[in-house]
Amino acid sequence: MRLGVILLLLLGVVVALAMMLRPHDDGGGYDDYFRALNATLRAHGPARPMLVLDLDRLDENIRVLRESIRPPKQFRVVDKSLPSIPLVRYIFEKAGTNRVMSFHQPFLSQVAEQLKGSQILLGKPMPVRSAEQFYAELRSSFDPERQLQWLIDTPERLEEYRALADRLGRKLRINVEIDVGLHRGGVQDTATLDRMLATIAAHPERLEFTGFMGYDPHVAKLPSWARSRASLIKEVRDTYRGYVDFARQKYPQLWNERITLNGAGSPTYRLYEDDTLLNDLSVGSALVKPTDFDLDTLAPHVPAMFIATPVLKAGASARLPGLDWLSRLLDWWNPNLARTFFIYGGYWMAHPESPKGLHNNSMFGRSSNQEMLNGSAKVELGVDDYVFLRPTQSEAVMLQFGDLVIVRGGAIVDSWPVFRQ
Ligand SMILES: Cc1ncc(COP(=O)(O)O)c(C=O)c1O
Repeated sequence: MRLGVILLLLLGVVVALAMMLRPHDDGGGYDDYFRALNATLRAHGPARPMLVLDLDRLDENIRVLRESIRPPKQFRVVDKSLPSIPLVRYIFEKAGTNRVMSFHQPFLSQVAEQLKGSQILLGKPMPVRSAEQFYAELRSSFDPERQLQWLIDTPERLEEYRALADRLGRKLRINVEIDVGLHRGGVQDTATLDRMLATIAAHPERLEFTGFMGYDPHVAKLPSWARSRASLIKEVRDTYRGYVDFARQKYPQLWNERITLNGAGSPTYRLYEDDTLLNDLSVGSALVKPTDFDLDTLAPHVPAMFIATPVLKAGASARLPGLDWLSRLLDWWNPNLARTFFIYGGYWMAHPESPKGLHNNSMFGRSSNQEMLNGSAKVELGVDDYVFLRPTQSEAVMLQFGDLVIVRGGAIVDSWPVFRQ
């Protein structure tokens, strides 16, 4: 009898706890923006997973960027984060730049071929064979001796590039990667820089010094309890200035008005408004704002690209194969399992965005073919409606869907190819 009471009490506590911890219903419908986009895609879309790029929102991001990056500072488009020639061309025109930062030899070759007037700086040091491949493929009027800067991080790589310049009978332009605090490589002391600049100075017919690149995303990403942002920025600037002063003083013959002092990236570019040292700031991802860029430094930017994919099947609560009893229990407990949707494709680096309250089902598992999403009874979604997801990053995700679907004013206005890989 006493045991029975204790068990009953225990059961009561478990049920009360379960009720207290019950997830709240976070389901909802589309907002006006996604409702209109859903209607457009249902009527005119390709009815498969696609990457939608909204030009109105892109324009807004370019406007924000132009307010921050003003002459004499120049804006450089990070091509890996916006991997489409028509997209880079569009940004060139809207933002009034012809500068690109490139990170992949096939992309570099496509930019040199199709955006012949561009000025390219490599964003990472490439294996010398990769540089050789670029020259072997070069067909257009793009002139690397005026338009291209290779990024070099060590004296050893510089020597490899010098030998390549000899083999090609060309002059290579060299930008030196400096470590301004990120510790992702690059020159870390003036003795090493000295060796590199001495090599460049000794081979004026084969090598030309064109500047520095110092990248600093940690400034925006380190939590404030770990280090104050002001002290991090100061460290970046002092370090950068140290290398500039050293080079100017010891190698004045290598210095000129055209030297590129590149830095920043999406997370930090808006922290350079009062800086007078750098003259070239790289930005890519902020113009489309995937979720990894939901940072305080990018608050005025708006998300401009979404994965859109049709719902193939819409049903009642989630049923786990072979575990119907558990499904019923979970369904009773979690209101966000009241409905099940299978979407076309899935498992992208992305989070469901609209309609509100869609979740992956970790017990059912992920699928790139037909992924299960669940939501509450309030989720307004039927077969052939679209689910919209926000990519976590742009560079890999934008390459996964074929041509980008371009929208403006809620209508599909174009389709743009992405880079060949
Ligand atoms: C050297 C360098 N500069 C700038 C960027 C900024 O790119 P994004 O603006 O897309 O973050 C990156 C990104 O990896 C980088 O490696």
